[in-house]
Amino acid sequence: MAIRKIITPPNPLLKKPSLLVEEVDGRIRALVNDMFETMYDAPGIGLAAVQVGEPLSVIVMDTAKEDEEPRPRALINPRIVWAAEEEREYEEGCLSVPDIYDKVVRPARVKVRYLDLDGQPREEEFADMDATCVQHEIDHTKGILFIDYLGRLKRERYLKKVIKKAKQAQEA
Ligand code: NI
Repeated sequence: MAIRKIITPPNPLLKKPSLLVEEVDGRIRALVNDMFETMYDAPGIGLAAVQVGEPLSVIVMDTAKEDEEPRPRALINPRIVWAAEEEREYEEGCLSVPDIYDKVVRPARVKVRYLDLDGQPREEEFADMDATCVQHEIDHTKGILFIDYLGRLKRERYLKKVIKKAKQAQEA
């Protein structure tokens, strides 16, 4: 296992839709292990493969609180097949979008179809924090970041700042 580097803007991969996984093999399971290690190290509650530079439709998540047993989950080729009308607002952040948190409104419950690590198709309902997290991660597989839901001015101001910071880090 290895901790991978998490990419940030302006890396163009973050805006690209991920490819579907054709076969859940050892390579995918190794990638998932790296993603879990990277997510727990960060620490974060969710991570998409594209965030470690692998544009494949693979996400991992664990929304357990610090005093709870870990609940690691890996979803291959996840897609939302149903969403509740009821909404939930949460102040989101993202390991690929550092130094900004903002409120995003999403459906409070969703049904997701995906493949598990044995390549078996599954369908599962996610609610509350799990629903927010899984939708945020599935967005990554479509090239969507949570800041895409914020106003244009807010987003552009943020991106300008983060790109400037990245450039300064490179020059230093
Ligand atoms: Ni994210």
